[in-house]
Amino acid sequence: MSIADDPDRAPARSHLYAMGLSEEEMRRPVVGIASTWTGTMPCNLNHRDLAVQVAEGVRAAGGLPMEFNTIAVSDNLTMHTPGMRASLISREVIADSIELMGRAHGFDALVAIVGCDKTVPAAIMALARLDVPSVILYSGSMLPGRWRGKDVTIQDMWEALGEREVGRMDQADLDDLAKHACPGAGTCAAQYTANTMGTVADFLGLAPFGVGDIPATVPDKEAAARRVGEIAMRALAADARPSKVLTADALHNAIVSVAAMGGSTNAVLHLLAIAREAGLPLEIDRIGEVCRQIPIITGLKPSGGDATALDLWRAGGTSLVVRRLLEAGLLRENVTLVDGRTLADVAADARETPGQTVVASAERPFKPRGALAILRGSLAPGGCVLKLGGKDDFRHEGPARVFDSEADCYTAIQQGRIVAGDVIVVRYEGPAGGPGMREMLSITGPLVGRGLGTSVALVTDGRFSGVSHGLVIGHVAPEAYHGGPIALVRDGDTVVIDSAAGTLDLLVPEEELAARRATWQRPERPVERGVLTKYVASVASASDGAVTA
Ligand code: FES
Repeated sequence: MSIADDPDRAPARSHLYAMGLSEEEMRRPVVGIASTWTGTMPCNLNHRDLAVQVAEGVRAAGGLPMEFNTIAVSDNLTMHTPGMRASLISREVIADSIELMGRAHGFDALVAIVGCDKTVPAAIMALARLDVPSVILYSGSMLPGRWRGKDVTIQDMWEALGEREVGRMDQADLDDLAKHACPGAGTCAAQYTANTMGTVADFLGLAPFGVGDIPATVPDKEAAARRVGEIAMRALAADARPSKVLTADALHNAIVSVAAMGGSTNAVLHLLAIAREAGLPLEIDRIGEVCRQIPIITGLKPSGGDATALDLWRAGGTSLVVRRLLEAGLLRENVTLVDGRTLADVAADARETPGQTVVASAERPFKPRGALAILRGSLAPGGCVLKLGGKDDFRHEGPARVFDSEADCYTAIQQGRIVAGDVIVVRYEGPAGGPGMREMLSITGPLVGRGLGTSVALVTDGRFSGVSHGLVIGHVAPEAYHGGPIALVRDGDTVVIDSAAGTLDLLVPEEELAARRATWQRPERPVERGVLTKYVASVASASDGAVTA
């Protein structure tokens, strides 16, 4: 019974009258519109405008839209500050917020407007929990900046820091680049974490293909948002709830998309978390197996080439990627898409711009294999993620340079204490140890800028920005905070990375490791309070998606 017709809900009706609603509107299906707008970053800056359009679409299709907001944390703005610890934790808070609003208000359907990195997996996790017909609207990438005749993105900014440190760029140029790198609203402008996860939402079937890849500031975006409102009403009529859409086959396709588009290592963490929320079995090694078989077919930064998200959209977008993957038989077609199309429909609808050079075929890819590999070994018995970035398999053996925090490592790099051949080990930065699994862009950017990106390896129980590249291995499990082998490494120990064998090993005799383990003590750190305390108490291993539920 609707609120309009329930005699006992007269008090509730009085509040809806207060909002200007009529009884006719109260009888309509209610579509919650979760926006992850905050005025603290460019990434989600267009969400309020998009929410207005979604609401129009819902209204036009006979529904009653109800908007609400969540928090969001920018990775770029918090990078290299203590605030970075809040980023991954925010995924849980956003998921919990959407879930709680859904449970409180009993929405008949939901639209989640997402952008910056954590907001995408967070919304998917919440929708999986609520299991009402739902649509994801990815708010779109930023346009690339233009500086001295070339397209630039936030990746150029971080690498410029390293170039300044070795004298290849002065502060005036760095400041000038900062004024031009990010020209307006939208998410980081290539296949970094946000765009990787936006694509994941497409391939999971929860976001309509052809909407997410429209850049944030292109006028077409608002019309697409209005369509999403209509699609939400269609999803309600078709009962297209996440338990029907988010299947094992859809999850497989999402992993394929990450591999084929050279996506971010953070996708591993988020796919594991999404799978757990959806009740689907997914082991971290499975992601590695898929990535081994799938070539990178898009020429996007940072792994496939130099193209930006704008270039991808102009070339034909993710729909064109679907066409190429279907042609190669790399997708599972028995999936439900929230807008009612099939993958074959999406491929047929794809418009390929003549002469485009961004989306290739699986037969003639940009790189022969995907961007990620999963390693295990004596240093990471629970698994870890290698950002292969389309490079050939490699073996790296070198002495460990151990740091108990990202900040200490950053200082050592600045002082020129890291040399070619080293294996940097940054620990106590895991889900519980950080807490919050800080991203290491403030290390990887300067390493690349100093020309050490391919001669120094970085191993951490923290994680990486989608912008990071180089010989980087993150998500080492078990983490140092819980006494994993990474806690026992000492300066000068030999570490061996063998990507072809899928191994990460610490060449220290077992009896020596046992002696170290017997005396190991977790380093003292300031007492955490509030949300950090709750997070440390409940967060799972990175190999389990760092979930808290
Ligand atoms: Fe928000 Fe990159 S920091 S999308």
